[in-house]
Amino acid sequence: MKVLTTIAEVRAEADAVRARGGSVGLVPTMGYYHEGHRSLMDAAVAAHDLVIVSSFVNPTQFAPTEDLAAYPRDADADDALAEAAGVDITFRPVVEEMYPDGPPRTTVHVAGLTEGMCGATRPTHFDGVTTVVAKLFSIVGPCHAYFGRKDFQQLAVVRRMTRDLDLPVTIVGCPLVREAGGLALSSRNAYLTAEERTAAPALHAALLGAVDAIRAGERDADAVTTGVRREIAAVSVLDLEYVEIRDASSLEPMATLTGEFVIALAARIGRARLIDNVVLTVRGPEVDADVGVRIADGPPSQATP
Ligand code: PAJ
Repeated sequence: MKVLTTIAEVRAEADAVRARGGSVGLVPTMGYYHEGHRSLMDAAVAAHDLVIVSSFVNPTQFAPTEDLAAYPRDADADDALAEAAGVDITFRPVVEEMYPDGPPRTTVHVAGLTEGMCGATRPTHFDGVTTVVAKLFSIVGPCHAYFGRKDFQQLAVVRRMTRDLDLPVTIVGCPLVREAGGLALSSRNAYLTAEERTAAPALHAALLGAVDAIRAGERDADAVTTGVRREIAAVSVLDLEYVEIRDASSLEPMATLTGEFVIALAARIGRARLIDNVVLTVRGPEVDADVGVRIADGPPSQATP
């Protein structure tokens, strides 16, 4: 696997593969890989002649009060995991390579999908995400780009940007990967103390409680979110920021549960802010739930792919 740091080198590699008629897949990340990142790499490696993973802790998606400086990093372990996955190129630019003139004056803003949910407490976050993702699409020119359903709102926002701007890339949404105990894998789980790590799976358990209620016939969104709030309030170290039920593609709020929708939440626990979701499809009495996939045996080690 090559590790490249400049835009020019990455462009040249992708151009060469496309010129031969090959396909290029992109997996955008902020590094500190876990099995969630690995699953996106696996999907891309299975489908493309050239797979480029970008590893860039993007400062423009962090507010000044957030954890940019503390964000965990481990380039060596990351490169070992990506290499084992069969990734061809890691693009790891420094901030000055991506933003040579400081924060960009040109940004991408997806109206309507970014004000609520995580956007309510992180009002500048999604503009940072869409702008860097648009830059990565422009640098790499992938035919497919891979994103996790763990960041459900991010996936919906990136899909909408791609559609609105006619970007020549297909967005592939990949399953949410969880630890054996149910906690959604996240680079930010590294912030958790042992006690917090024990408590954190309660977020997923509360979402499973919501799925059970809907399977039992509940169709009132407020009743479902009230149940989730109650369960999470019972765990003292968890501080729920929001739990919301939204249409899966427009992210419009819903009162009565029908069609495809997401139950999404964010919670603070110690130094970490964690997000989680489940996606349901309700057609009459039929309920289909996508609660993600659990890895077989607990948290994967950073170094061992
Ligand atoms: P990061 O948090 O590193 O995540 C990179 C990709 O991995 C995202 O598409 C995210 O949804 C996916 N991912 C993270 N945890 C996952 C899990 N448990 N299961 C499945 N997929 C998971 O998301 C970002 O970086 C950044 O915002 C980025 C898109 C790279 C823009 O800077």
